[in-house]
Amino acid sequence: MTVWLARWLGPLLLVSLWGLSAPASLLRRLGEHIQQFQESSAQGLGLSLGPGAAALPKVGWLEQLLDPFNVSDRRSFLQRYWVNEQHWVGEDGPIFLHLGGEGSLGPGSVMRGHPAALAPAWGALVISLEHRFYGLSIPAGGLEMAQLRFLSSRHALADVVSARLALSRLFNISSSSPWICFGGSYAGSLAAWARLKFPHLIFASVASSAPVRAVLDFSEYNDVVSRSLMSTAIGGSLECRAAVSAAFAEVERRLRLGGAAQAALRSELSACGTLGSAENQAELLGALQALVGGAVQYDGQAGAPLSVRQLCGLLLGGGGNRSHSTPYCGLRRAVQIVLHSLGQKCLSFSRAETVAQLRSTEPQLSGVGDRQWLYQTCTEFGFWDTDPWHVLSVTQALGSSESALLIRTGSHCLDMAPERPSDSPSLRLGRQNIFQQLQTWLKLAKESQVKGEV
Ligand SMILES: *[C@@H]1O[C@H](CO)[C@@H](O)[C@H](O)[C@H]1NC(C)=O
Ligand SMILES: *[C@@H]1O[C@H](CO)[C@@H](O)[C@H](O)[C@H]1NC(C)=O
Ligand SMILES: *[C@@H]1O[C@H](CO)[C@@H](O)[C@H](O)[C@H]1NC(C)=O
Repeated sequence: MTVWLARWLGPLLLVSLWGLSAPASLLRRLGEHIQQFQESSAQGLGLSLGPGAAALPKVGWLEQLLDPFNVSDRRSFLQRYWVNEQHWVGEDGPIFLHLGGEGSLGPGSVMRGHPAALAPAWGALVISLEHRFYGLSIPAGGLEMAQLRFLSSRHALADVVSARLALSRLFNISSSSPWICFGGSYAGSLAAWARLKFPHLIFASVASSAPVRAVLDFSEYNDVVSRSLMSTAIGGSLECRAAVSAAFAEVERRLRLGGAAQAALRSELSACGTLGSAENQAELLGALQALVGGAVQYDGQAGAPLSVRQLCGLLLGGGGNRSHSTPYCGLRRAVQIVLHSLGQKCLSFSRAETVAQLRSTEPQLSGVGDRQWLYQTCTEFGFWDTDPWHVLSVTQALGSSESALLIRTGSHCLDMAPERPSDSPSLRLGRQNIFQQLQTWLKLAKESQVKGEV
């Protein structure tokens, strides 16, 4: 048997983008919408499928321990994974393990996006692993509090380790095949931590937009949004940021006026609940903040309802209604566009409705898991955007084997998305850098295989 010796310190690539995600629900709806759009895009699946059904991604289930830290607890659950064997050369070919985060994973997770796009170059096997307690990987007992204590990044990392071992046996993967973890956002943090904690199992990781630092009061999120609204490279300007401030000031003014002004505001901005209470007003303002933050966080991504350029155009009176338009009118139109895109009737709900929804222990089988993610942010990470993510990422190299990459015009996890003709030069360059870094590492892996056999 070939013994593969990992003699170097952890190769790890931390990719940070000029944008970030917050627990606010509208922002998560936007993320879900964009992910579904990208995963279901016929163009991408068509490209990868080619003739023959053998190329179809396969789904599988791993039996995992519910509590991997308690030897006397033998309860288990089924964890979903997807496999794309289309490019795999077998033998010593690398394994690209795409980690899931706080949402369900579909077949697109192994067919589209960066890990899948990189696979042909090295003949890699692409596997994705759904995070425990999300999608269909929810243990019996659902989302009750008693069960949620088995939900944490530590549990997720234990799953990565046992999945890595079980899948090696299942697919007869050679012990000299290097395993490379990929992940975006929270899953990017998991990818980085997996490499740091288990260097004997994970050869390298590419962590995209990974907020690896936990923080309670995450006011920097809005600082990044504000800077992005001024960035001319993505269609922002000083005037645009001023227009956003003016629109929010107008919303607050109308909220304070109460009475008819407040009732008009409710219908104009499509708030579901009445706006009499401070709590419901906070829900509306939070949703508007997520709308603007979402334009920055998902700027330029396929399926995003509004880019920064479009948002700025609306707020600065574009759209052929220049004479009558105010920033507030532009914000109204932005709200309509986003609601139409998401197929949603309301922008914000009452606080009572929001809380009732979070209390529901009924699992959502697809999309984001709001209750679970709120639990994780409460118990582990914070990320309360009191007021984007790269401020919590590592944006400078930590040594020769831990590289970092900041893509200035890229939004949250954009490097993980499928390539598009409209991709900016800095994004293309960023992807190229990731490719070259992997090239270097995989060469290193090959050399060490040769040495290991001696
Ligand atoms: C470990 O599991 C056993 C059996 O389910 C249980 O009785 C015990 O309380 C668990 N210990 C902890 C620390 O959870
Ligand atoms: C597993 O792979 C090895 C080479 O890596 C091969 O010799 C062996 O026959 C394979 N076993 C099965 C069951 O495919
Ligand atoms: C122009 O903007 C005003 C104010 O928002 C609105 O009432 C009007 O319907 C708009 N006209 C057109 C043609 O969109």
